[in-house]
Order: sequence, then C-alpha cells, then structure tokens
Amino acid sequence: MTHSDRIETLLEENRTFPPSAEFVGQANLTDPQTYADANADPEGWWASWAEQLTWDEKWHTVSEWKPPYAKWFLGGKLNASVQCLDRHVDAGKGDQVAFHWEGEPGDRRTLTYADMLEGVGRVANGLKTLGIEKGDRVTLYMPMVPELAMAVLACSRIGAIFSVVFAGFSATSLKDRIQDQEAKLVICADGCWRRGKVLDLKTVVDEAVADCPSIKNVLLWRRGGELKTASNGISRDCEWSDMVETQDALCPPVLMDAEDPLFILYTSGTTGKPKGIVHTTGGYLTGALATTSLVFDLKPNEDVYWCTADIGWITGHSYIVFGPMAAGVTQVMYEGAPNHPKSDRFWELVERYKVSIFYTAPTAIRAFIKWGDEHPAAHDLSSLRLLGTVGEPINPEAWVWYHEHIGTEHCPIVDTWWQTETGGIMITPLPGITETIPGSAMKPFPGIEAKLLDEQGAEVVGAGGGYLVLSRPWPHMLRGLWNDPERYEETYWSRFPGFYFPGDGAKRDADGNLWILGRVDDVMNVSGHRLSTMEIESALVDHPAVAEAAVIGISHELKGQVPVGFVILRSSHESSPALAEELRKHVGTLIGGLARPEAIHFTPELPKTRSGKIMRRLLRDVAEGKHIGDTTTLADPGVLDGLRAEYEGNKG
Ligand code: PRX
Repeated sequence: MTHSDRIETLLEENRTFPPSAEFVGQANLTDPQTYADANADPEGWWASWAEQLTWDEKWHTVSEWKPPYAKWFLGGKLNASVQCLDRHVDAGKGDQVAFHWEGEPGDRRTLTYADMLEGVGRVANGLKTLGIEKGDRVTLYMPMVPELAMAVLACSRIGAIFSVVFAGFSATSLKDRIQDQEAKLVICADGCWRRGKVLDLKTVVDEAVADCPSIKNVLLWRRGGELKTASNGISRDCEWSDMVETQDALCPPVLMDAEDPLFILYTSGTTGKPKGIVHTTGGYLTGALATTSLVFDLKPNEDVYWCTADIGWITGHSYIVFGPMAAGVTQVMYEGAPNHPKSDRFWELVERYKVSIFYTAPTAIRAFIKWGDEHPAAHDLSSLRLLGTVGEPINPEAWVWYHEHIGTEHCPIVDTWWQTETGGIMITPLPGITETIPGSAMKPFPGIEAKLLDEQGAEVVGAGGGYLVLSRPWPHMLRGLWNDPERYEETYWSRFPGFYFPGDGAKRDADGNLWILGRVDDVMNVSGHRLSTMEIESALVDHPAVAEAAVIGISHELKGQVPVGFVILRSSHESSPALAEELRKHVGTLIGGLARPEAIHFTPELPKTRSGKIMRRLLRDVAEGKHIGDTTTLADPGVLDGLRAEYEGNKG
C-alpha cells in the first residue's frame, strides 16, 4: 500500500498524544493564543524574532511583497556568523561546548563556542588571502566534521556566498553546481569514513574542477589517517594547514544587508537540471532561530541537541548550523554510518553525550526498527526529552515505534514538514501546545498560512484533500533561483497564481490537522532526499546502449521511495542482467549513489500520450501492480500489456 492509499485509514487514526503535564510544566511556550496573535499580525510576530538577533543597523521596513518577490527587514544590517558565534562569546558563553564531535572510527573532539569563533576567524582570513571577496561563490564538499560548519560560517563572515554540495554527489553533479554558480574556490576534505572504509573525496573534486575554469583554488582539509596518498601537488591546491592554521584568529565580520544572499543550495526539480535555491541573510536567520527555539522547545544552556542530517542538505543548514548556533545550544555531530561498528551506534552517542533533543528522518527510523529493539534497549536513553522527524511522510507504525523505543513513551514527537525552498519548518506541532497524532504534521507554524486548493485552484475548506499551498510570504522563504528568475516564477507561482506551490499534496482532517501526502510532481523522495525522475532519465540516456528511458519512484520499505528505470535499448545492444547493473552504476557515477535505480526493466516500448509525453503514472501503476487507470490519452494502449509482462517477468 502506498502512503496515499493509506491516508484514508490514517485519517481514522485515533491515537492522539496530548502534551504531557510534565512536558508542559517546563515548556517555553504553552499559550495557544500564540497562533491567533501571530496570524493576526505576522509582521509583528516575525519582527519580534528578528529583534532577538544582533543587528548592526536596524531595518526600516519589516517586509515588502511584490509577488512573487519578498524582502524582509529592509535596510537592516547584520552578519550571520556573529549571530552564531560572537554574541555567545561576548555574553560569556565562550566555554560552552558548541560541538561534541565523533568520527566514525571513534576519534572524539570537543569544540567550544570560543574555539569555533577562533577557527572561523582563521578560515575567514585564509579565504581573504585567497582573494575571496563579498559576493564571490565558494563551493564546499566536505563530510560531517566541525570544519564544514567553520567553513560555512567563515564564508558568511566575509560575505562570500557559500554552496554546500553533499559529499555523496558525483564529480559530474559537483561540476554542474560549480559551473552554475561560477564559484572561485572549492573547500574540500581529502576523504571521510563511511562504514569502516575511507571514501576519497579529493579525486572527485579534481575530476569536477578539471572542467571548471572559474575555480582559482582548492582548499584541502585533511581528515588524515589512510588518505595520505590523496592527489596533491596541483598548483591551485592549498593545504588547510598552510592557508588556515597559520592565520590570525581575529577577523572582523563584514556587514551584510538583510537581503544579501547567504547561500545557494541545489535541489532537484522536475527537469534534468537542479535548481539553485537562494536564501538571504536577515529573514533566513530569523526563521531559523524562531523555528529552532519553538519547535524543539530549546533551552540553549541546558539541552544537548542532535540533528542527524548532513550539512549538505537544507536540514543541516537550518538545524545544525544556523538555527541551533544562533540559539547557542550544545550539539552532537557524528561523521559516519548509524550502524557502524554496530547497529546501536546512535544510541551509544545519545547515552554518552546525554542528548536531550534528537531530530532524524523516517527512513532512519525504519532502519532502526529493522535492526531490532535490542539496540536502543541496551542504552540509557533517559536524557531524551523531545524527538523530531523530517524529510518524508512518516508512517504511523514508525512513529509509534519511535515514541515507544526511543522516546520511552514520554517524549513528544514533532513531525516537521518543510523544504529546501521554505528555509525552515512550516508545518509542525508545537510540543507545549498542540497534541500530536502519528502521521500528521499537524498545524502551520505561527505566522505561516497554508491552504489546500483543488484542481481548479478553488480553496478546499474544512476536511478534505488538495494541493498544499502557502498563501502568505515568510521571512525565510527562498528569494529566487540562482540566475533563473523565469524558472522560479514558473515552478512555484504559475500553477496557482498568487500562492507558493511546494509540489506536495495534503489532507486536512475534521479537526483541522494536516496530513502530508508527498509529491504530486515528477520528483521522488528517496530516504528523505529529493530526486528528479528527469535527472535520472537523462543519466540513463547518456549511456551509449540506451535509446530511451523512463524513471518512476516506487514505494520501498526502508527508503520510502526508490527509483526504477524502464529502458528501451538501441538495436545494437542486447538486454542482460550485466547491462542492467552497468546502467545502475552509470546513474550512480553521473549523479551519486542515492540516485542509482533499484531495478532496470528493459522494454521495447513505453506508454506515451499522443503528443509523445511518457505517462509515468501508468508505469507506476504497472510497477505497483495496481489497476490501470484512465488510458484514453494513450497513443497505443497495447504497450501496457507488454510492459506488465516484462515487469512481472523481471521482478524477482
Ligand atoms: O515532499 C515533501 C517532503 O520533502 C520535500 C522537501 O524536500 P527537501 O527540499 O529535500 O527538504 C527535506 C528536508 C526539509 C517536501 O516537498 N517532506 C519533508 N518533510 C516532510 C515531507 N513530507 C511529509 N512529511 C514531512 N515531515
């Protein structure tokens, strides 16, 4: 059963979890009136959060909305790294631990806020020595090490626009992103540890950069150990030990306008080319701070917070670097795999560092369930007081397991819906106010307005389903796509003029709670990460054996969804299991391991409309064994019988 099939049953879910008296007794926010007040005066609400940041010059206008372009805190000046570092150190919190870091092999480091400020100052001075100036783009390709957070903050300190590329992406993906943003510098690591092996990142960077004339230098941080042989000696390369560690720790922050870009982060869209989502400084930080503080009921001087995301994704930007660090909380950061050396690694970390807030993804929770209850049971998890999930719809069984086995039945769970584009959490419970229901993301965050629209764009009022839209601008919304205003307008604002359309469907129950159904476009969600079917199709067609390809996402027990490819071969090639494997690998090489199709099915034909458009919906029906819906628009309905036979034959 797919998530959307399950939704009717879900809406009858009657296990509700009101906030416990114990939790409410200590919660930062318990007054339900907060929603009404914020929604009556959204500008006032967001301004009250902006005031909690440190501004060098205050804004003169809270917001300006010329659809589809918003500006927030106009005229305000601030620096993002100051919010995350200087103001805590200045307030006497320099000795508070910013990160308890643990490498996969078991090496440990503790960095205080003062250590982070010094490190950031050195990196920032190193960047200046390399000629990086305000507005220049810097691409980061690093594993989960404190130096990645330092590099991010160092860019923001001197006003360079950073763009983190998840270190699992291929050389081609990295190259495309560097070229699109015309970056001057790549900061990378030589490698990292994953499941007991060292992954070589530097070779990927060398391959990518070979085709990037904008790159003047590559700054190399060494993870050390096995990687001493990583390629070097290239004249544009410079070592962190020479370029950063020798620098002065003091680097005055560059004052940025609230609307100056802070970063570009690429995400998949419905075409083959990823979109460079642009976020700006003042509004983004306001949203990150407000949502971190309220959704996680954060107590910055007491909590130990652990978000298991990678900084290469938006969750790591907003809920490892900017939100938690602007709030000044202590965090845990872990380099490696959750099941290395054993399947209890996360719970060992929770116990060791006494983690109180834990934020992860449904795909991880489903893996924990599969690995067995004995792993969390072997550890003292009593320090936990709040759990979160993000990235994809969570199935109620996983939610309840999380509640029982990790939250030991006393931690509220916040199921947070948002996107790279929204910059911060948009639909979520507030743990001291709202009840929670397994499978529902509950309510829009105060100040956020979400509506459901039907096919014609009419509002669905009360209980019912439709397209989820956001009907009011918010400070941390994307400001556009890098170098592509047309695509920005077309992608988000053309389907329902006047509304931001995220691409998700949702249902509202009789009590007004929202249940996110997932994507309604040609984007799939694999282990909580967005992948475009078109991007994978282009990668398949790139192979010399392939004439044509169609890709769909099908349900998967652990990953939520996985890509499956239907391929028409050129007449010069014969289908074989070896070729299917080669094609899977080819996609991995071109995009990254995440995109590698679960299966490849060879077929002589694909179902197409008369205008030649591949009907992926029908392929999905075939793959999920469903009754085939409306085929009246199909040019040749007979194609489906052949496909079904092919699919059934190949499945085992
Ligand atoms: O489909 C929604 C799903 O993930 C998409 C956003 O992906 P990305 O930009 O990579 O950001 C992921 C982390 C914020 C959304 O359009 N999604 C995210 N969170 C949830 C979700 N679907 C259901 N429930 C969620 N809590």
